[in-house]
Order: sequence, then structure tokens, then C-alpha cells
Amino acid sequence: MEKVQSIGFIGGGMMAGAILDGMVNRIKKNPTEIFVSERRQERCDELHDMYGVSASTSADSFIGNVDAVLLAVKPQALDAALDEIASKVKSDARIISIVAGVPLARLEKAFPGHPIVRVMPNTPLSVGEGMSAYTFNDAAEAVKDTTAEEIFSSCGKAVKVAESLMDAVTGLSGSGPAYAFLMIDALSDGGVMAGLPRDYARIMAAQTLLGAAKMVLETGKHPDALRDAVTSPAGTTIAGVRVMEQQGVRGALIDAVMAATRRSEELGKLK
Ligand SMILES: NC(=O)c1ccc[n+]([C@@H]2O[C@H](COP(=O)([O-])OP(=O)(O)OC[C@H]3O[C@@H](n4cnc5c(N)ncnc54)[C@H](OP(=O)(O)O)[C@@H]3O)[C@@H](O)[C@H]2O)c1
Repeated sequence: MEKVQSIGFIGGGMMAGAILDGMVNRIKKNPTEIFVSERRQERCDELHDMYGVSASTSADSFIGNVDAVLLAVKPQALDAALDEIASKVKSDARIISIVAGVPLARLEKAFPGHPIVRVMPNTPLSVGEGMSAYTFNDAAEAVKDTTAEEIFSSCGKAVKVAESLMDAVTGLSGSGPAYAFLMIDALSDGGVMAGLPRDYARIMAAQTLLGAAKMVLETGKHPDALRDAVTSPAGTTIAGVRVMEQQGVRGALIDAVMAATRRSEELGKLK
């Protein structure tokens, strides 16, 4: 199967904007090959002005011609979007969906025989540091489709997983930015309590988590090894770590991921 040239977005909201930024500004995808259908005319104008893409309030002008379709509407708007476009897509168009909680089986009903990729991104995509996990249907597997990998690694990291792990992905990286925001806020409070001005404390907390995360990713070392390296005998860091262990921070984080994973499973069953 040939490489995807043109791509049509259905929905031009927050996530679509972040993906467009990665495609146009980082992987330098030609904006004349990108089309967006978005309900709100002012958002169409904004996306056109920012990225040079063609954006309109209907998909009719492009849906029958594009090589790939990226579904980026809210879950509750999906049925209406599918009614509008499913019968009009090219017979071999690749379908990429970021719609949370929608399984491949449901998308296969709407697009029988098409290569389909289900993606779970997260909001740091909007600053080029997203974490996306994607899963293929059999047809996408057969053509070894690289479109999603290219698109989502342009705005962060992307990994392929089995669909059965999508709830766990939701529990960790999907919901994870909120855990990190909470940690940054709590560390800032600690800094303020220790006498730092609030604005400095917030920068210090955020930059410290960012730097530590980069060290894990760039050195490939186990986080425990990196922690050991900064924990000198009878020093300040071990005094802080001791309190975190006493308060069960590690267990709380494990439980948070498990609770969000279970909630994702429950919400999936309600659909
Ligand atoms: N935000 C996250 O953290 C996150 C993480 C992972 C996955 N996701 C998934 O990403 C998807 C998009 O999220 P988002 O935050 O970008 O949503 P959003 O900002 O609400 O964007 C969706 C846009 O699509 C428009 N729309 C709805 N139906 C349409 C149709 N048939 N044709 C064209 N445009 C249509 C909406 O317009 P109206 O508002 O006028 O209807 C809205 O502007 C969701 O399914 C969400 O589950 C989000």
C-alpha cells in the first residue's frame, strides 16, 4: 500500500490543533495535503491562518479523495460524524481514531475492510510532548501502516500496544498529566511552606519533574538507580524520601493508575 499523502481531519478542536502543529511545524507535512472539517467557522479560519490547511464546516469537499481520515471529535459526536462520512471515504482510506474509549470493533463496523488505527494520546501533545499509544486492526497490521506512528511521534512519543492494554494506557499516560499536575502543585506548596515565593516554587517544581523525566528517558537508567545516585548518606534527599515512603506515595500512585484503569474498563462496558 502506498504512503499516505492527503489526510482529512473530522473535528478541529484542541487535540486536532495539537496534532496539526506537529505535522506542519515538526514533520513539515505539506499543509496543502491536509484538510479539516470543523463545525465552527471561526475555528476553521483559525486553523487555516495558523497552519495553512484547508478547513471548512463540511467534509464533503475532501472526504472522497483523502488517503487517510483522522477522527478527532468527542465520543458523543462520533455517531453523527460517522453517519456523515463513512459511506463517502475512499475504498482504501486509512482510518485513524483518537476518540477515547471507542474500540476497533465499532470502527470496523463503520469502515469494513479499512486499515484502522485506534490511538490514545494525552494532552501534553499540545506542547509537542504527548504520549500516545496506538493499536491496529488486522487490515492495518497487514499493510504495516506507518501513518499513525509518523503523526503521533511528531508531537511526542508513540508506542504500539495490543488493544487489550488500552484501558491501562488510559490509566497511566491518558490520565497521567493530571497526576503530574497534582504533584507539581503539591511540591510548589512544599516550597512555599519552606519559604520560597509561589512563582519560583511552581517553576522549580515543574522544571524538576521535567528534568528528572528527561534523565530517565535519555539515560535509559532505572529510576531507582538515578535516585540512589542523588541520595547521599544521612543527607537531605533521603530525609525527604523517607517521608514519601512513610506516607505511601508510591502505593498511592500505583493505586491511582489502577483506579483509572478500572474506571476506563467500566466506562467501556457502559457504551
Ligand atoms: N483532551 C484529551 O485529553 C484527550 C486525550 C485523549 C483522547 N482525546 C480524544 O480526542 C478527541 C477530541 O478531543 P478534543 O479535546 O480535541 O475535543 P474538542 O476540542 O471538543 O474538539 C472536537 C471538535 O469537533 C467538532 N465536531 C463535532 N462533530 C463534528 C463533525 N461531525 N464534523 C466536524 N467537526 C465536528 C466539535 O465542534 P462542536 O464543539 O461545535 O460540536 C469540536 O470543535 C475526543 O474524542 C477525546 O476523547 C482527548
